[in-house]
Amino acid sequence: MSFPSRLATGLLFLLLVPTVAFGAASNYPLERIRTDHSNLPSLQRGAALYMNYCLGCHSLQHQRHNRTAQDLGIPEDLYRELLLFDDVDIGSHITNAMPHQGAREWFGNAPPDLTMVTRVRGSNWVYTFLKSFYLDESRPFGVNNALFENVGMPHALIELQGTPRLNCNGGSCEGTVVEAGTGRMSESEYADAVYDLVNFLDYTGEPYKQDRQRIGVYVLLFLLILFVFTFLLGREYHKEVH
Ligand code: HEC
Repeated sequence: MSFPSRLATGLLFLLLVPTVAFGAASNYPLERIRTDHSNLPSLQRGAALYMNYCLGCHSLQHQRHNRTAQDLGIPEDLYRELLLFDDVDIGSHITNAMPHQGAREWFGNAPPDLTMVTRVRGSNWVYTFLKSFYLDESRPFGVNNALFENVGMPHALIELQGTPRLNCNGGSCEGTVVEAGTGRMSESEYADAVYDLVNFLDYTGEPYKQDRQRIGVYVLLFLLILFVFTFLLGREYHKEVH
């Protein structure tokens, strides 16, 4: 092979590597949501779902209980009563007792900390992930995930959603369908619950977002007032010049 054609092959290879490595994951169509950190009832419902269904396996180690209670507008005694185990200090980080090594053996992969998961994966990804589990007897927990093939996680919300199956027609499959009447929630209630959960995770990824936006408004107002004075001062100077 001549040098230019070898160079061309090399370049082509470099261009293809990222497509090959990430192609499979990015092909799956993601559902879109708009998270909203000012929607406190949604964040509160999301936190309750998280503590009940996810914390057993996934910590939120960059987030503290009392900060969460404060930001979400939950009185501390109510938070303690409803969301904390008796022996947990409300000032502590949101951790659990999942042993890392044991978890790797049980699930094939340790459940990662989820404080930043929406910043790493994106909130659309996490939302779609939680709606894409389906029955698959060949997997250790009897479920698989259409977005995350062969995921090591069981379907933690199956009692709420009901029994999901791959939606196949002829040879091709697209998304999942839930067997009617098998879950505690209807399809739209489940979608709302997953939205609240992802909204809460999006908040833990950026707990100061609300503050940042409020401060941003003050800064812009300050600059506007400063501009008025600078403009008037500029006019005074010009009077002197002419
Ligand atoms: C029984 C333990 C268990 C429970 C309960 C559980 N998970 Fe998981 N989860 C896992 C494991 C194990 C993985 C890693 C799977 C892998 O990498 O194959 C995982 C992976 C994930 C991921 C993908 C993270 C990434 O970036 O790769 C997300 C998101 C997630 N879980 C969210 C949740 C949410 C939300 C809940 C609560 C509704 C929950 N999980 C409940 C065990 C659990």
